Amino acid sequence: MTALPRVFAHRGASSLAPENTIAAFSKAMEVGARWFEFDVDIIADGTLIVIHDNRLDRTTNGKGGYYTRSFSDIRRLDAGAWFSDTYRFERIPEAADAISFGNKQHMGMNLEIKPCRGGTQLRERLIEALAVAVDSVHDKDRFIVSSFDHELLAAFHEARPQISLGWLLDSEKQSTLGWQEGASALGCSAVHPDAKGLAKEEVWKIRDCGFDCNVWTVNDLEQAKELASWGVTGVFTDYPQLFPAEALAL
Ligand code: G3P
Ligand code: MG
Repeated sequence: MTALPRVFAHRGASSLAPENTIAAFSKAMEVGARWFEFDVDIIADGTLIVIHDNRLDRTTNGKGGYYTRSFSDIRRLDAGAWFSDTYRFERIPEAADAISFGNKQHMGMNLEIKPCRGGTQLRERLIEALAVAVDSVHDKDRFIVSSFDHELLAAFHEARPQISLGWLLDSEKQSTLGWQEGASALGCSAVHPDAKGLAKEEVWKIRDCGFDCNVWTVNDLEQAKELASWGVTGVFTDYPQLFPAEALAL
């Protein structure tokens, strides 16, 4: 029987607790996951925050964008009540908080750089701040930085060439993007394709080119088993609690 791939708790155990919060990372740990993924962007004062969208509305009680905000505003927001009352007062973490949690719990981490829309200056500051933040990661062998924004990924690589990279692909661009050249040129260790519409030939090609293949987002165990039979090395899931212990332990 094919072994199941590594399980990344996507935005933490985001089916059990509000995504991209320390509560979600703790839940991932509680259900046995050894890796978690989180999204990072920058705000006006240069703080790196953990958030998926480029607006505050969906996952906090704040409104609008955050590129003009300072962390003194952001830290007041409730990032848990939208999910359930249990998580009222949960905060938007700084990237440093997520890293420090992963360090303490000896968890592997995938930090995804969001395609920052804050303008050239903020994009540059994002990379500078990120380079400093990743210096605090204890186990660099269990740490991956990924992005759909391949320009930012390249800039990060220039700043910290020793950190493993994941080349993110979305299903619309998958066949046209030239991931093979791009990921090779940056020395990526992995390609991270969208599960939607992914064909086994695409997985084989990624693996034949020597890359790990970590697929997002896989919320069904049967689909994970099928992907494993195609040779994928990892899956991102909102439901790490559904995966068997031997998969979670990788
Ligand atoms: O990093 C895998 C996955 O998180 C990419 O998509 O939109 O969930 O950040 P998204
Ligand atoms: Mg992500």
